[in-house]
Amino acid sequence: MPFQPPSFGERQYWNDRFTSNSNPFEWLEAPDALDPYLVDALRETRDQNPKVLHIGCGTSLLSYHLRAHVKQPEQIHNIDYSEVAIEVGRKREIEIFSAHKNSEEESDVKSTISDEVEGNNTTTTSKGNKDLTKSLSQLTLNETPNMNYMRWSSANLLSHTSLLNACKPSTYSVIVDKSTSDSVACTDDTYVPLPYHVNTTPIASTPVTQSPEPVHPVHILAIHLALVAKPQARWIALSYSAERFPFLDRPLYQSTSPNLMSEIASTLASEGFHDFDYELDDDLDNIPQQMIDNGLPDPSTLWTLAGKYEIEVPQQETKNGGSMTTITHRPQVLHWVYVLERTNVEVFVRG
Ligand SMILES: C[S@@+](CC[C@H](N)C(=O)[O-])C[C@H]1O[C@@H](n2cnc3c(N)ncnc32)[C@H](O)[C@@H]1O
Repeated sequence: MPFQPPSFGERQYWNDRFTSNSNPFEWLEAPDALDPYLVDALRETRDQNPKVLHIGCGTSLLSYHLRAHVKQPEQIHNIDYSEVAIEVGRKREIEIFSAHKNSEEESDVKSTISDEVEGNNTTTTSKGNKDLTKSLSQLTLNETPNMNYMRWSSANLLSHTSLLNACKPSTYSVIVDKSTSDSVACTDDTYVPLPYHVNTTPIASTPVTQSPEPVHPVHILAIHLALVAKPQARWIALSYSAERFPFLDRPLYQSTSPNLMSEIASTLASEGFHDFDYELDDDLDNIPQQMIDNGLPDPSTLWTLAGKYEIEVPQQETKNGGSMTTITHRPQVLHWVYVLERTNVEVFVRG
């Protein structure tokens, strides 16, 4: 039977996965990997109580870790199109932060973050997260103690109506994306109406046609996120791809070689991501000018690249004649952190 890659771009895949195993699972990096970029973004914002949108939260412990970065948990909004992940996340937050727990763990997390800000960090994983893998208790939402929690919503980032049901336009100062755009990139390219629903000029009664070509899903993601982000908001994205955002100026880095791609695949497999299909998203075409002229916003006018950083993935140890040894011939595998900044170009939704 021909090789069938997992459907990382389909909601059903994620619902099945989170239903069969609701334990916390981290893609690519630990929850604190984005701390320096988050701290910087929150320091730079002029908002007193900046709102943080955590897209494609899955079952990552990053959701709870984010609480330590803000004054009020309500400033954090976790969204995912898997309603299973959202329910698991909502209940787990109650379990961790309810009256059953003393406040020490949260202050433990906060002190870890402030250590990192002050440059004296020696830990890579938040101490406050150490017990988070406990199975879910019988807690239901009705038993929620009277305290504050983060926001949790099920929403599809590739549907502007679904996103707007969960998020108000021009609201978020920081968008956190831990390998979610990787997953979105696995969604099929789609034909879209032109002018597009979300546009840089107010559109009302213009006749609508179908785009002559299907559009890459990461373009659509960028346009939709521009709608809910404030001007100068930062979109902090962790990815395994050196070319995650097709609309950004390239090449900042040389394109990843096929050999390195197979090394990435084998590293991902060794981390548990079997059959990870790194070829699904290599269609990084720019949007044809004709489509932009006919009303598809150019994402490069909505977001600029403020920074791109590499994270070295530690080499795997393997068994060699009974003893553990580090592979030395393997090229270094990198993960990438992109910091995108929202421009001042306004976007509107078709009335
Ligand atoms: C690779 S996982 C990353 C999960 C988590 N951020 C982490 O680091 O462990 C991708 C997540 O994005 C979600 N996702 C994928 N496409 C989405 C979409 N179109 N709208 C909302 N969520 C999406 C999936 O349900 C899944 O939880």
